[in-house]
Amino acid sequence: MPDRPARPDAPILVSPSAMPHRRLTRGVRGRVTLLHALAHIELNAIDLAWDIVARFSSQFPPAFAADWLKVAAEEAEHFALLAARLADLGAAYGDLPAHDGLWQSSQETAGDALARLAVIPMVHEARGLDVTPMMIGKLRAVEDEASAEVLERIYRDEIGHVAIGNRWFLWLAAERGLDDPRAAWQSLVRRHFRGALKPPFNDAARSTAGFPGDWYAPLAPDAA
Ligand SMILES: [Fe+2]
Ligand SMILES: [Fe+2]
Repeated sequence: MPDRPARPDAPILVSPSAMPHRRLTRGVRGRVTLLHALAHIELNAIDLAWDIVARFSSQFPPAFAADWLKVAAEEAEHFALLAARLADLGAAYGDLPAHDGLWQSSQETAGDALARLAVIPMVHEARGLDVTPMMIGKLRAVEDEASAEVLERIYRDEIGHVAIGNRWFLWLAAERGLDDPRAAWQSLVRRHFRGALKPPFNDAARSTAGFPGDWYAPLAPDAA
């Protein structure tokens, strides 16, 4: 596998601290900033799903590749929906800088399927479940119903992605004879994910995805 897939010339990639922050207002600039950042995450998500298929499928039954191909297709739809909203607002993916944190995080786990499942679907995609309802609320507050509906679609699909990650993590942990998959997950996250998990957690959505609170809550900074 290549270390990274092909990328478009734009956006340029900058360090996370150099990313533009803008408050969400009725004007378009704040919304373009938000939708652009989300489009960048979805483009990474397409690549991450294909990377997991190509890199790790041989260690799993065929249903593993089928699940992640479905994820890749949904991520592509998410990207297309966000690109269409950017176009409605007179912008396009590539207009703003983006950061490379998500891809770097995935490369950190390129050597081990269990670590990859622990970090990408069960940390990053689960984090998406925590923050998306708030973003939907903010978009509704500035009366951007079309963008809010795109995020609702993404949110529903992402619950499924976390569920798929969770299921295959448990499968591989059992296959490896790990008798405490929760402890294994926590130790992989501590080793491969920089920083603590940020509460508040969306316990309802995480639990719908089969992801129990006693796995992730102990990794929040205020948990002893
Ligand atoms: Fe997505
Ligand atoms: Fe996803």
